[in-house]
Amino acid sequence: MNSSTSSWYDRKVLPRLLDFACGLSPIAGFDCVVCTYTLCSVRDPSAALAEMRRVIRPGGRLLFAEHGLAPDASVRKWRRRLEPWWSRMAGGCRLTRDVPALLKSAGFTPTYQMGYVARPKSLAYNFWGDATCP
Ligand SMILES: C[S@@+](CC[C@H](N)C(=O)[O-])C[C@H]1O[C@@H](n2cnc3c(N)ncnc32)[C@H](O)[C@@H]1O
Repeated sequence: MNSSTSSWYDRKVLPRLLDFACGLSPIAGFDCVVCTYTLCSVRDPSAALAEMRRVIRPGGRLLFAEHGLAPDASVRKWRRRLEPWWSRMAGGCRLTRDVPALLKSAGFTPTYQMGYVARPKSLAYNFWGDATCP
């Protein structure tokens, strides 16, 4: 079978959508979880990361791209000011989550890059990389 006709199953990639709030995924042992622009929106990011940690096999990886707390004091000040309004407009999205700290306190070892990826700065400080799971 050539690559144009092979299925996800043939490639041994089985995509699943996970609800990180309920902690009830019947399956675990994933090689990899991909999480993009979700830690800002989940109600409890620590619980979500604990669930990701639970379902990733030992030695597996979390790939992430998230926005969060910027290093500059003036940008942080604006993010804090905008957050209540922004959160109501953007489905609960938070602007002040410290993504690396959340990953580390959930037991992941993250390797990542970070920076402003757009304007306005108050909305655009991003972190992207991967995190391993002992
Ligand atoms: C800003 S959107 C990002 C969508 C998409 N992942 C992307 O990168 O474009 C935030 C996403 O978080 C998801 N989300 C919120 N709470 C969640 C949860 N408990 N478990 C899984 N996903 C959740 C929402 O369904 C929404 O799709």
